[in-house]
Amino acid sequence: MSLVGTVVTQSINLALKTTLACILLIGAYFLSPIALRRFVKDKDGNTIPPGPPTRYAYLRKYAERALDSWAKQYGDLFSIWMGSQLFVIISDPQVAKDLFVTNGAIFSSRKRYFMKSQVILRGRAITGSPYGNTWRQHRRLATLALSPKSMEGHADIMDYEAHMLMKALYEESQRGTTPLNTTQATGRYALNNMLILSFGIRTTSLDDPLVAKALRLTMEFMELTGPWANVIDFFEILQYIPTPKKARGHQLYADMVDTYGSMLLQFKTKMLAGEEVPDCLIKTLLENQESEKLDWEDICMLSAVFTLGGVHSVSGMIQWFIATLPSHPEICAKAQEELDRVIGRDRWPTIEDEFNLPYVRAIIKELERLHAPFWNATPHFTTEDFSYKGHYIPKDTVVILNCYTIHHNEIRYPDPFSFNPDRYLDDGLSCNESSKLSDPMARDHWAFGAGRRICPGIQTAERELWLVCSRLLWSFNFKSVPNEPISLEEYDGLSGRTPKPFRVHLTPRFEGVSKILDSAEDVPFYL
Ligand code: HEM
Repeated sequence: MSLVGTVVTQSINLALKTTLACILLIGAYFLSPIALRRFVKDKDGNTIPPGPPTRYAYLRKYAERALDSWAKQYGDLFSIWMGSQLFVIISDPQVAKDLFVTNGAIFSSRKRYFMKSQVILRGRAITGSPYGNTWRQHRRLATLALSPKSMEGHADIMDYEAHMLMKALYEESQRGTTPLNTTQATGRYALNNMLILSFGIRTTSLDDPLVAKALRLTMEFMELTGPWANVIDFFEILQYIPTPKKARGHQLYADMVDTYGSMLLQFKTKMLAGEEVPDCLIKTLLENQESEKLDWEDICMLSAVFTLGGVHSVSGMIQWFIATLPSHPEICAKAQEELDRVIGRDRWPTIEDEFNLPYVRAIIKELERLHAPFWNATPHFTTEDFSYKGHYIPKDTVVILNCYTIHHNEIRYPDPFSFNPDRYLDDGLSCNESSKLSDPMARDHWAFGAGRRICPGIQTAERELWLVCSRLLWSFNFKSVPNEPISLEEYDGLSGRTPKPFRVHLTPRFEGVSKILDSAEDVPFYL
């Protein structure tokens, strides 16, 4: 063979060997969970919980379906690797309580997700903060605005916002004569409640540019921050490469700082000029800025996270409510019979009526079970190695509350896929009270998460949902539009989920409805 021929043959051999080595390395990397589960142990020989044999790049749409089938195969505590990250998935109430509540000191942190915590929230905001003093301080400050006392102070305003939502739906549907898509109106309702609590302001119509802007920001946040949604979160090398998605994350951060930062500056200017400003989160933060050592970005992100946490979730739940009722006329009829009997038709329900209307309450709880906005809550993160019932959970593991599987447990919720409010008829507790029950199997549902990171907006959300859902039932009949089926299975959003866009007919139930709806006007007030 000529010299050239030998060199060519050797080059081909080298290329083949290199390719083979690469394939073997990649194969070993993706199949390494088999070995890791066998050989990584704690000092007592406990191994990492069972789970699928391969590493995954990420899970996209409807990740809960994959988790549910793995839970059936591997049990109530299983593990998966997403790139370099180990996840442990909890699919049972008792395990959730044992880990998140009883051992909350170890299971209450957050992973520094690249997209969510580093690019978008830049290490701030309660939801993305690791467990520790800063998180404690920020949560304490934020919950001042969400406490029962603050809720009482805002009771009339929340009642008014619910009225304005009813009126907006009525007007948008040309007084009940044309079908409507409720996304913008329900979004504005939830937004106004959050704006009032955090900035002391409200939008006065659907055309206010802040409505479209804030709803776009929350939707973008939900699209970009799912616990499994971004391959870039799990393969660190990709974080150094510019990608369109990374650019979207940076843009979202800039838009949030621009939107909420300018509202913050306006508020501060008024305060400094000695003008009267309303009691709200921003006021508390600015008054305590020095003593609490808060910088400008802390304040901006703390207030922005109210709109991120409290808008999409609440408006999504109301949309699920409206989407569900047309296919359940018998449930509507039963609820409306209860409303007519207990409240009558001369006034509509208020917050004081809640515990006198058990069936309407039961509908809302059933909705929260079957249409929880976050099927994986917000992932927790371990700060120490831990061993539990023969399983080893290392430090820096992401721990997921698998609400989808828990909410479809046949023993706790017989016939779990059917929408059946009767299962909650005897439940006289609020979601907040129920979350504190010592028996985790008795808890109503897990839609608000668990343990030290449980949703601090739970009481606010319950009040918002009650006011709207009870009044919707009191005011309207619900009908789907012919040839426009409403899907209750598909949804939008990779983090929080909302129904696919749909239209519905909302027609007033009786003549007196319009009188009540017309009895208040949308006013631009600054409290
Ligand atoms: C139906 C409405 C809502 C649902 C289903 C919901 C659900 C959740 C869930 C599942 C978590 C994660 C809990 C965990 O890590 O275990 C959470 C956290 C949070 N929620 Fe909500 N939420 C709702 C409304 C609200 C509202 C109205 C606010 C008001 C500001 C809010 C603010 C927050 C905040 C700040 C966190 C982060 C807590 C932390 O990391 O310490 N949420 N929520």
